[in-house]
Amino acid sequence: MNNSIILGIESSCDDTSAAVIRGNKILSNIAANQEIHNEYGGVVPELASRAHQQNIIPVVEKSVSQANIQQKDISAVGFTRGPGLLGSLLVGTSFAKSLAMSLGVPLIEVNHLQAHILAHFIEDANIMPPKFPFLCLTVSGGHTMIVLVKDYFDMEIIGRTTDDAAGEAFDKIGKIFGLDYPAGPIIDKLSKNGNENSFQFNKPRLENYDYSFSGIKTSVLYFIQKEIKKNPDFIRENIDDLCASVQRSIVEILMEKLEKASKNLNINEVAIAGGVSANSALRAAMQKNAENLGWNIYIPKFEYTTDNAAMIAMVAQLKFQRGEFSDLSVSATARYDIEESFKKP
Ligand code: KG4
Ligand code: ZN
Repeated sequence: MNNSIILGIESSCDDTSAAVIRGNKILSNIAANQEIHNEYGGVVPELASRAHQQNIIPVVEKSVSQANIQQKDISAVGFTRGPGLLGSLLVGTSFAKSLAMSLGVPLIEVNHLQAHILAHFIEDANIMPPKFPFLCLTVSGGHTMIVLVKDYFDMEIIGRTTDDAAGEAFDKIGKIFGLDYPAGPIIDKLSKNGNENSFQFNKPRLENYDYSFSGIKTSVLYFIQKEIKKNPDFIRENIDDLCASVQRSIVEILMEKLEKASKNLNINEVAIAGGVSANSALRAAMQKNAENLGWNIYIPKFEYTTDNAAMIAMVAQLKFQRGEFSDLSVSATARYDIEESFKKP
C-alpha cells in the first residue's frame, strides 16, 4: 500500500492552488482565485503572476495545515511545468524548486493537461476510476481535444480544436453578451431559465475528430449586431434564451465528435475533464448517452474540474511511484509539448 505524501502546486493561469495527497487520496486542496481579472474581461498575465506571488505562501501553508501534516512528512513536490502563462508558471515552478531543495525531496514536473485527465484517478469512495482504454474529452479555457487514454502515461490525441477552445467560446460569446469573465459558469447558470431551442447558430463541418469554435462565435456576433439594430434591448430581453441556445450548440458540437470516436473505436468508457466539464448541459448529455448508448461515463467531482492542485498532486504521485523526477534545472514552459509528455517513459 502506497502511503507517500506529495505536495502539488498549480499556477498555470489565474488560480494559485496547493494540495496534499496521501496515496491516491486528497488530504487538502486549497485555491486562491484571482478576482482582479473580472473587470478586465480576461486574464491579465502581469496581474496574474503578481497575484500568484502574493498567494503562493499562504496557500501552501494552508494546504499543509489543513492536511494535518508537517512539512517533514512530504516525500516529493509536484508542480505544473506547463502549458500556461509563462509568468504564472514561473512563480509555481520557482517556489516548488526552492521547497523541494530545502526539504531535500524530489521535484516532479507535471503537464497540466495530463493532470486534468488523470484527476479521474483521485481516490473517492463513491466514484470508480475509468478502465483503460478510455476516451477523455478534455475541455478547458485553452484546450479542446479528444484523448485516447491507453494507460496513465500512454495517451494519444485523436482530435483537437483547429481554432478556439470550447471554454474560450463560452467566454468570448459571453463577452459579446456583456457578461463578466469567465462567462462559462454564468452562461451555464442563466441557461437554466432559458429555452435552448430559441436560436440556431452555425455549426462547423470538419472531418475526423477535430473541432472548430470560431464559426459559432462569429455567427452569434453577426446575429446580435443585426438584432440590436432592430431592438437595442435585445440582449437584455433574451439573455436566458441566448445563453441556453449557445450552450446547447457548444455541447452538441462537443458530443457529436465524442460519439463518433466512441462508435468508430468501439470504446464505451468515456470521460470528460477540464474546466468546461463542470457544465451542467455537458454532464446531462453524458448521462443521456450512458442511458441510451450504454456508455460507462466518468465525470470528475466539481472541485477537480476547473484548475486545481489536487490533479497535479495525483500525477506527481503516479510519477513518484515510477521514480520519474525532474532535475532542479527544469524550467517552466508556456507550450509544453503534450504529445511528448504523454509518451511512455
Ligand atoms: O480548466 P480550466 O479551469 O482552465 C484552463 O486550463 O483553461 O478551464 C476554464 C474554462 C473557462 O473558459 C470557463 O469559462 C470554463 O472553463 N468553465 C465553464 C464552466 N465552468 C468553467 N464553461 C461552461 N460551463 C461551466 N459551468
Ligand atoms: Zn486547466
